[in-house]
Amino acid sequence: MSQSTVYLVTGSNRGLGLGLVTQILEEHDSAFVYAGVRDPENAPALSGLQIKHPNRIAVVKCVSADVEGNVALGREIEKRHGHLDTVVANAGICDSANNVSEISPANLEEHFRVNVTGTIVLFQAVYGLLKKSASPRFIPISTSGACLDGRAIKFPKGGIEYGATKAALNWATRKIHFENEWLIAFPLSPGAVDTDMLRNNVVADTTGLLKKMLETIPTLPTAETASALLIKLIDGSTREKEGGQFVHVDGTRLPW
Ligand SMILES: NC(=O)c1ccc[n+]([C@@H]2O[C@H](COP(=O)([O-])OP(=O)(O)OC[C@H]3O[C@@H](n4cnc5c(N)ncnc54)[C@H](OP(=O)(O)O)[C@@H]3O)[C@@H](O)[C@H]2O)c1
Repeated sequence: MSQSTVYLVTGSNRGLGLGLVTQILEEHDSAFVYAGVRDPENAPALSGLQIKHPNRIAVVKCVSADVEGNVALGREIEKRHGHLDTVVANAGICDSANNVSEISPANLEEHFRVNVTGTIVLFQAVYGLLKKSASPRFIPISTSGACLDGRAIKFPKGGIEYGATKAALNWATRKIHFENEWLIAFPLSPGAVDTDMLRNNVVADTTGLLKKMLETIPTLPTAETASALLIKLIDGSTREKEGGQFVHVDGTRLPW
C-alpha cells in the first residue's frame, strides 16, 4: 500500500477540476490523483498531465449519480491505495438560468441529480476509503449563488435550478459534517472563475446582469489561479476551523 497523499477530483476533464488536478500534481510531489471524468478515453488535457507526472495520476470514469460506476471506482482505489485522503466533489452543472415560474421540472431534476444526488452517491462510494485515511477530507464545490442573502436569489433569471440545488448540496454537506466526527467536510465556493460554465452563462443571460456583475471584478480568475487558492485552503483546512462552514475561496465564511 502506497504512502502517497491520495486525492480524487471529479469533473476534471476541463475547467476548475482540471485546474485542481494540475495544481495538486505540481504542488505536492508525493500526491497521487484520481482524476474523475465522464469519458477517460477522451480527456486530452489529462493525457498531457499523465505524460508530465507518470505514475502519479489515474484518469478514471466517474459519472455523477451513477451508483454502480462510483462503487466500482471505490473498489479500484481500494485495490490500488487502500484509502483516500481528499475528495473534491467538483463535477456540477449550471445549464440555464430560469425564474421559478418558467423552470421545467425535468431541468430542475437534472440539476438536482448531478449537483446533489451525484455528490451523495460519491460520498457513499468513498466513505470506507476516507475512514481509512489519517486525515480525511470531503469537499464539495458549491457557489456563492446558493446564498440566501440576496446575491443570485434577487436577480431576475437568478437560476433556480443552480442556486436551489447548490443550497441543497450545502445542507447535505453540513449534515455530513455533523454525522462524521472523524471527517473534515465543508462546501467550498470558488467565486467567479473563467471556465466554460461561466462563459456559457454570460451568453445565456438575456438580462445582461451577469456580464455587468463580472465587469466589476478587476481580473476574472482563471481556473489555474482559483485552483491554487482552493488547494491551499483545502490542504490547510481543519475540522475545527472550516468543518461544517460555508467557506469562500478567500477564506471568509458565506451566509447560508
Ligand atoms: N466557474 C465558475 O464561475 C463557478 C462559480 C461557482 C461554482 N462553480 C462550481 O465549480 C465546479 C466546476 O465548474 P466549472 O466552472 O469548472 O464548470 P465546467 O467548465 O462546466 O466543467 C464542469 C465539469 O463537470 C463535469 N460534469 C458535468 N456533468 C457531469 C456528470 N453528469 N457527471 C460527471 N461529470 C460531469 C464536466 O464533464 P465534461 O467535460 O465531460 O462535460 C466538466 O468536467 C462546479 O461544481 C460549479 O458549480 C463554478
